[in-house]
Amino acid sequence: MDRIIDLRSDTVTVPTEKMRDVMRDALVGDDVLGEDPTVQKLEAMAAERFGKEKGLFVTSGTMANQVTVMTLCRRGDQIIVHNNSHIHNLEVGGLASTCSVQPRAIYAPGGAYNLEELDREIHFPDIQRAPTTLICLENSFDLNRGLAVPREHIQEICALAKKRSVNTYMDGARVFNAAIALGTTVEQLTKGVNVVATCLSKGLGCPVGSLIMGDSAFIDEARRMRQRVGGGWRQAGILAAAGILALEEMVDRLAEDHEKARTLARGLIELGFGVDPEQVQTNIIHVDLTPVGLDSAGFSNALAQLGVKIKSVGPREFRMVTHKDIHDEDIPVVMEKLKICMGRLKT
Ligand SMILES: Cc1ncc(COP(=O)(O)O)c(C=O)c1O
Repeated sequence: MDRIIDLRSDTVTVPTEKMRDVMRDALVGDDVLGEDPTVQKLEAMAAERFGKEKGLFVTSGTMANQVTVMTLCRRGDQIIVHNNSHIHNLEVGGLASTCSVQPRAIYAPGGAYNLEELDREIHFPDIQRAPTTLICLENSFDLNRGLAVPREHIQEICALAKKRSVNTYMDGARVFNAAIALGTTVEQLTKGVNVVATCLSKGLGCPVGSLIMGDSAFIDEARRMRQRVGGGWRQAGILAAAGILALEEMVDRLAEDHEKARTLARGLIELGFGVDPEQVQTNIIHVDLTPVGLDSAGFSNALAQLGVKIKSVGPREFRMVTHKDIHDEDIPVVMEKLKICMGRLKT
């Protein structure tokens, strides 16, 4: 059997040899006591990269989201989220159960809120209404599409939030992908957003870890909230060492993943699959099987048997995610197997 080509997600990436070397050699200490020099270095690097005062290293994107909301909001507050966002849909109801906030989900095609609607949904507290205290953004938007939300839209939201005295938070699990797609830096792209988080364990190839960046008072309190949810860790420098290497060496290469996604998308379109090339902006391709008359569960199972893994994301939709462990020479192999699979399922 050929090697498995795993296009389900960029979370399947494995650490490079160099990453494993720096992890083995990392200087470590007890991070709960504030004594891990490698964690401190990573947090300072991340803060600088994003143009924020301080950073906090946490276990996962989900923990970054939950800790941020716990820190910024009080019990019973309303927070605004995209209807399709990870924080709203894929965190086991954490906004309700862990953070005790009331999410108001707004339809936001392409990750862009309608500003008038957003303004209307920001509530001041009165005898009946919960106060709105946070607007959440996601960039890249929609883990099944990876759309890059432009800086201009983020600036408009930040201006409105400021006018209405509401905080802004960006779940930037893949914000480096978004910034590269838009030809800007993460600092520029997230300017004005109060708090930003990003994941190290997706396209950047780290085994574990996410980062939250914000002002000093926020991060000090977020550190306490991290402790509350059991996220205080001890010699975490072993993991932070991988994060430092990722920020130094793994960011620019994300452009190669975007290129591979575009190549794959062109091939899929030639084979008759439904792909909107305008929507292939980063490393995620959303594919509609309707034009080829197949269903996604059957198709993904059959393709897996040929050694190519994809993720079914609807009855007739799947996604493909390119990443560092998908090589250029894998693309024609994927194309060949897609063809074989279609042929088999159609007969
Ligand atoms: C946009 C977004 N936010 C948050 C997360 C959660 O990250 P983690 O799996 O590290 O908890 C993901 C994971 O795919 C994501 O795509």
